[in-house]
Amino acid sequence: MDYCDPKFHLLTRINVSPETLLGMLPARRSEWAKTPLFLGWPAQFQRVHATMTEASARLVNGLEVLLDEPEGSVQDLLGISGMNHLGMELIDRVSHHHAYEDETVLPRFLSLFPEKTTSVGLLENDHDVLEGVLTKSRKTFQALRPDASSKEAIDAALKQATELKRILHRHTHDEEDLLIPPMLHANVHL
Ligand SMILES: [Fe+2]
Ligand SMILES: [Fe+2]
Repeated sequence: MDYCDPKFHLLTRINVSPETLLGMLPARRSEWAKTPLFLGWPAQFQRVHATMTEASARLVNGLEVLLDEPEGSVQDLLGISGMNHLGMELIDRVSHHHAYEDETVLPRFLSLFPEKTTSVGLLENDHDVLEGVLTKSRKTFQALRPDASSKEAIDAALKQATELKRILHRHTHDEEDLLIPPMLHANVHL
C-alpha cells in the first residue's frame, strides 16, 4: 500500500478501498450487531468513536452560532457557550484515544491477524496525519479566549474544527470497518 496514494490517504480518500476490505466478513454494519461478541469490545469501541465525532459536530455547530453574533457579543458568548473548553477537551480525548490504539489495540490486532498489515499500516498513518491536524487545531483553539477573542479567531477555529470533524469521521468509520469484522468473524476479543 502506498499511503500517499489519494485513494488511501486520510485527507483524500472517500472510503476504505474495496480491495482492502476484500473478504472481510461480516461486511455489512447491520449484521455486526447480530453477533453476540459485538456487544463487548466492538460496541464499546463504536461508543467511544461516537462520543468524539458528536463532540466535533457540537463544536462546529457552536462556532457557527458564535460567528453569527455581533463582534461585541462574541467574548461573552464564547465563555458562556464553553466552545473554547470543548475544543481543547476534544483534542485531548482524541490524542489519548490514538495513543491507546497505537500502544494496545493495533499491536494486539496484528498479533491476532498477522496478515492484516495493510489495515494496521493505514490506521497508523491516519494517526500520524491526525496528530498533525490536532497540533494545528490546538494552536487555533488556544486563540479562543473569552477575555481576548474576535470573530476572526472564531472563523479560524470554525474552519479548523470543520476539517477535524471531517477527517475524524472518516478515520473512525474506516477504523471500525477494518478492525471489527475480522474480530467478529474469528470470534475473538481484543
Ligand atoms: Fe484510530
Ligand atoms: Fe479509534
